[in-house]
Amino acid sequence: MASGLSPEFRVFPDTDALSRALAEHLAAQIAARAAGGANFALVLSGGNTPSTLYRCLAEDYRDRIPWALVNIFWSDERYVPHDDPHSNYRMARETLLDHVPVPGANVHPMPTHFADPEDAARAYEDELRQHVGLPVPRFDVILLGMGADGHTASLFPGSAALEERERWVVASRSPVAPYVRLTLTFPVLDHAAEVCFLVAGGDKAEALRRVITQDAGADAPPAARVRPAQGRLIWWMDRAAASRLDVAPGIKLL
Ligand code: 6PG
Repeated sequence: MASGLSPEFRVFPDTDALSRALAEHLAAQIAARAAGGANFALVLSGGNTPSTLYRCLAEDYRDRIPWALVNIFWSDERYVPHDDPHSNYRMARETLLDHVPVPGANVHPMPTHFADPEDAARAYEDELRQHVGLPVPRFDVILLGMGADGHTASLFPGSAALEERERWVVASRSPVAPYVRLTLTFPVLDHAAEVCFLVAGGDKAEALRRVITQDAGADAPPAARVRPAQGRLIWWMDRAAASRLDVAPGIKLL
């Protein structure tokens, strides 16, 4: 398991309960920052699991979150047009962004129109430099998913992107289509004030067991290597995904 602050584990009966609890958590985090007059830098994950959370935010928090203070970024993107069915941006737009009053200027999708994805990666680094600050972007909350192989964002097992310690965004290669991706790297993930993993489904149980019980060495699954140095790491899981975890003091069944 990752070093840094002790991770927190929250287990819910199902994805709906997980999503409702995480939506309330995010609203509280945003409100706390807004109370101090600060903007909130939120990174959205891709894949399918977070769509329930995004719909919950759109339906129940449209008027309860100061969306004008929220800046939205992505953990990774499939290198396809933004209107492609595989686009993480499209999924977030359809489930959340089209239904809440977040200003367009606050929404920062990863660009996928460059001929060379590495040019897109560098363009996104410029976007982060401009909007999230230096010397390393520090996001208030980064949402991440996890694949059954233990990948997170678009950091896949065996990828050279896992060893990147300078660049904030790189092009990477997925073993499943769409093969070309853009992804945040560990230096950015580990600089977050808070990382929230959303993991649901029995197909993730073995990977989750490995991630949570293994040391975060070089051969650990990528998700195990996310270790916010001065940030919170919270695992939001459903019972099916957590079914291979021993009930330990740190694991809160909710
Ligand atoms: C992506 C995601 C990826 C995802 C996991 C889990 O672009 O696919 O960023 O890391 O979070 O693959 O995906 P599911 O939630 O669909 O299981």
